[in-house]
Amino acid sequence: MNVLVVGSGGREHALCWKIRRSPLVRRLFCAPGNPGTAAVADNVDLAADDLQGLVRFATDEKIDLTVVGPEGPLCLGIVDVFRQHQRLCFGPDKAAAEIEGSKAFARELCRRHRIPGPNYWTFDDHVQARAFLDNREDGPIVVKASGLAAGKGVTVCRTSAEAKVAAIDCLEKNRFGSAGATVVFEEFLEGQEVSLITLTDGQTIVPLEPARDHKAVADGDKGPNTGGMGVVTPVALMPRMAAQIESQIVFPTVHAMNREGRPFRGFLYAGLMLTAQGPRVLEYNCRLGDPETQPLLLRLQSDLVPYLLATAEGRLASLEAPVWDPRVAVCVVACSGGYPGDYRQGLPIFGLDRVETADDLQVFHAGTTRKGGDLLTAGGRVLAVTALGTDVEAARARAYAALQRIEFAGMHYRTDIGRRP
Ligand code: AMP
Ligand code: GLY
Repeated sequence: MNVLVVGSGGREHALCWKIRRSPLVRRLFCAPGNPGTAAVADNVDLAADDLQGLVRFATDEKIDLTVVGPEGPLCLGIVDVFRQHQRLCFGPDKAAAEIEGSKAFARELCRRHRIPGPNYWTFDDHVQARAFLDNREDGPIVVKASGLAAGKGVTVCRTSAEAKVAAIDCLEKNRFGSAGATVVFEEFLEGQEVSLITLTDGQTIVPLEPARDHKAVADGDKGPNTGGMGVVTPVALMPRMAAQIESQIVFPTVHAMNREGRPFRGFLYAGLMLTAQGPRVLEYNCRLGDPETQPLLLRLQSDLVPYLLATAEGRLASLEAPVWDPRVAVCVVACSGGYPGDYRQGLPIFGLDRVETADDLQVFHAGTTRKGGDLLTAGGRVLAVTALGTDVEAARARAYAALQRIEFAGMHYRTDIGRRP
């Protein structure tokens, strides 16, 4: 069969790397892709949000399955467009993707269906938002731009004064454009964080292994939030907590989306805080995480393609549970100097040829580009070095040893991925 992957980040490189290994796949394309995907797929010069161009390409090239990585095209309705052209596209349709596209919708969904999350308050008017902050007892609170903001729209604030600055940034200064036209304030929750991604066709659920992202830019969870600086998987969960996550969050969410006439097909990502009172939903994503995908797919031993096909065709119940490599995977993201703020691009990357990749060690490209013979930086998150090891320390040692062979001006990364906070 012929497969098209949509996107250009580290997640899409990992998807292409994994899909390429499937004996079911004859031709593999990636639109627009990056120099990493070019090594395993044919890159196609179409932007991820060029829905009409993509469906035309899929029709012309007889693509049997299109797999969408990022939230942007899903929220724009790429699955709906492909459906209108009778082409199979993996992922939620526009109505279901709103679970990520609007944090306000996601919170209201949880409230309507009693899915546990933090208390929250939604505002689109800065006068009312300020009044709310003035009248509450001072203390930590989380401020979120409701719309899509590439993981950067969340500010964890220690005081109401900090929250006011973050809210004004959204509502008055338009820092996130229309994504910040509505602001959600959330009760600050304490506990361990875990990302649980579930494959679902709306009827059957297949949870992937739990993973832990590290969102803050600096060691010790300091500094502003990013799209994700690194991941460790699996994460040991107490059996009681694992059961609660499934029965109180994953099943009810899939069921709630069905009841609301927005059946969800695809990867449903629940960002969770494991509190003393049980698991709480911090956010939903309508797709695989980046960089969660990189270490998860390094550990997935089963062929991914049958799962993608069965989900898109609504027959996930017909498949056995996937098989995972029992080893630990650690993924560390190398970023451009200044990220998640402003950063320079076009800087030469050295040393990739000094890293010996194998089935258990991969360097996934995210923000890279090729110019002539040179590999250059082209984004905030540049490379995701991902390694397996018999335990966390072994996986960390391999990933960091590989990372130390790579350099570009301004490169920075967290040194504590996988270390318990
Ligand atoms: P989100 O993109 O909504 O997952 O938020 C990004 C990060 O902000 C999360 O991974 C948490 O570290 C933190 N965060 C978000 N919401 C809360 C909350 N209600 N309480 C505490 N921390 C939060
Ligand atoms: N790594 C978090 C995300 O993909 O949203």
